[in-house]
Amino acid sequence: LFKQQAPNALAPGFKYMPEAGRLRIRAARAVQMTGLIGADGKKRETPIWGYGAHNGPVTWPGRTLELTVGPFSESLEISWENDLIEGSTLLNHLLPVDTSLHWAYSLPGYESYNIAIDGVPIVTHVHGGLNDSAFDGNPEYFFTPRFRIKGPRWEARYYRYGGPEWNDVAGTCWYHDHALGITRLNVYAGLAGFFILRDEHDTGTADNPLGLPAAPYELGFAVQDRMFRDTGELFYPAFPGDPFYSDFIDDEGADLPAEIFPNGGPTALAEFFGDHMLVNGVIWPNYRVERRQYRVRLLNGCDSRFMRLRLKAVPGGAPEDDYWADGATDPALGDPIPFYVIGSDQSLRATAAEVHEVNFAPGERLDLVIDFKAVENGDRVIIENLLGDAPFGGNLPKRGDLFPDRRTDRIMAFDVVLETSSVPDTAISESTYLSDGVAIPGPVAKTRKLALFEGTDRFGRLKPLLGTAEPVLDVAGNWVNGTLDWDSPITENPALGDIEIWEIYNATGDAHPIHVHLVHFEILDRQPFSARLIEKSTELGEGGEDDQGGEGYRLENLRVVGQARGPEPQEQTRRDMVMALPGEVTRIKMRFDKPGRFVWHCHILSHEDHEMMRPYHVGEP
Ligand code: C2O
Ligand code: CU
Repeated sequence: LFKQQAPNALAPGFKYMPEAGRLRIRAARAVQMTGLIGADGKKRETPIWGYGAHNGPVTWPGRTLELTVGPFSESLEISWENDLIEGSTLLNHLLPVDTSLHWAYSLPGYESYNIAIDGVPIVTHVHGGLNDSAFDGNPEYFFTPRFRIKGPRWEARYYRYGGPEWNDVAGTCWYHDHALGITRLNVYAGLAGFFILRDEHDTGTADNPLGLPAAPYELGFAVQDRMFRDTGELFYPAFPGDPFYSDFIDDEGADLPAEIFPNGGPTALAEFFGDHMLVNGVIWPNYRVERRQYRVRLLNGCDSRFMRLRLKAVPGGAPEDDYWADGATDPALGDPIPFYVIGSDQSLRATAAEVHEVNFAPGERLDLVIDFKAVENGDRVIIENLLGDAPFGGNLPKRGDLFPDRRTDRIMAFDVVLETSSVPDTAISESTYLSDGVAIPGPVAKTRKLALFEGTDRFGRLKPLLGTAEPVLDVAGNWVNGTLDWDSPITENPALGDIEIWEIYNATGDAHPIHVHLVHFEILDRQPFSARLIEKSTELGEGGEDDQGGEGYRLENLRVVGQARGPEPQEQTRRDMVMALPGEVTRIKMRFDKPGRFVWHCHILSHEDHEMMRPYHVGEP
């Protein structure tokens, strides 16, 4: 374990070097060595979909894009191309597609298309970018190879990023697929990569005015969990009888009703939790470091997995025996090693915060400084995931019981074995990183009460939904309240330039990582609430059934109870992700700086594909 080296996503060879501000980046099929070892002890190749330069190799994750933002910055134009084609044959999906969901080819006018014949729709979203609506990678902007089939809202081939109107600062964005109803599968196949924003302070060069560790001491790692077949293929349970399928659906392991497999399968999962942790496409890797400070950016690119990270040392370094092999025991770990959170999502923090543990939800990015001087030369430092096998805090089966040799409570290792150079470390704790802070100044034009619900679809499967927590007038002029589908008329319609507070009442039993496109927000606070959950379909005169035949809900007697508490250290930045905890209202504040159609959604990819996503519109629709 921890035997293969992870590539560094921020290493020079792992970056695109845009020429003339224009790039063509394709999504295509490739084969990658993840380090998977089959039952016969031999290494396996894994077919993946990755991103790559127009005529170059494709990788998972895709190579890192870097863009300098600020008043004098240049813009970058990218044509994200769909090259999921071989010769003249359109590729079928690598993974089983559930066509019973609301997805690209169930939209009106698209019902006669079929992935196997017409190709896989994809579209790329730069997550955290101040994107124009036309360049946002909206789920309905999808397209197939050679743009033969284009989604109903497809607008432009080249997407423009940056330029002087991006009033933005340095941060850690990422790019990934966002096609309607199959995002989880396209991302699972490998369509994701880093998109780093630089500015005049955080230049990424050795002489950066913030004194941050720079290349080769700046690292980027995308953490993603996956399952594999013994032959090397990515595995996504979807059919009756698939191994471990029932563990995802029912924690009691009860027999599954046949109805949840539309036409015998494949079916989407309520959530997906893999049994292998991959870092930049490599299973449980190590990275060799010097005994000094490093800047480490992490991306949680998992479908559903929440993590809580901690660093621990293995004094004396890698153990002789493979401690994940049968019968081997864990090496003795030292005390937790403190580290600094210097930023997350779209910006740095005002100052560094020293922590021992940090939460890490799907879609989130962390910007950390780890000082390996906390250990001795030759030691190993492991990134542990304290939520390990029970990402929702124990209501799922312990994966370790099912896969004793595959543990998701370890992510990667750093081996402090390189000779230390003379490049000096700086005083992280005394530096100011984001002089303007993260507060969003100005009057609040509107406070919206929104809600997260959990229903079931017409097959009896869990169907998480967004909606309102109080009656509102939608843009079609109807009063609506409670659960809303992707297709329901727009209810969030801020005016251009307005500042709003969104209060997100989580009426479900799970935590949901909520993402709002276009904006960065300030996380204000969280507070417990109480409410009555009313099933709409039991009432006369209310369109309670959603268009897929499931149940609708709304809230009544809504009131906050108990104390509000402020954001965590990693949340005190310009954010685009916020974890909404069950039974709590989460308040965020943001300004809507560009007109047009955008979306907000849960970033559990299995939820967003199953309609936990809504369009919103800035300005006149
Ligand atoms: Cu990371 Cu709407 O996506
Ligand atoms: Cu969710």
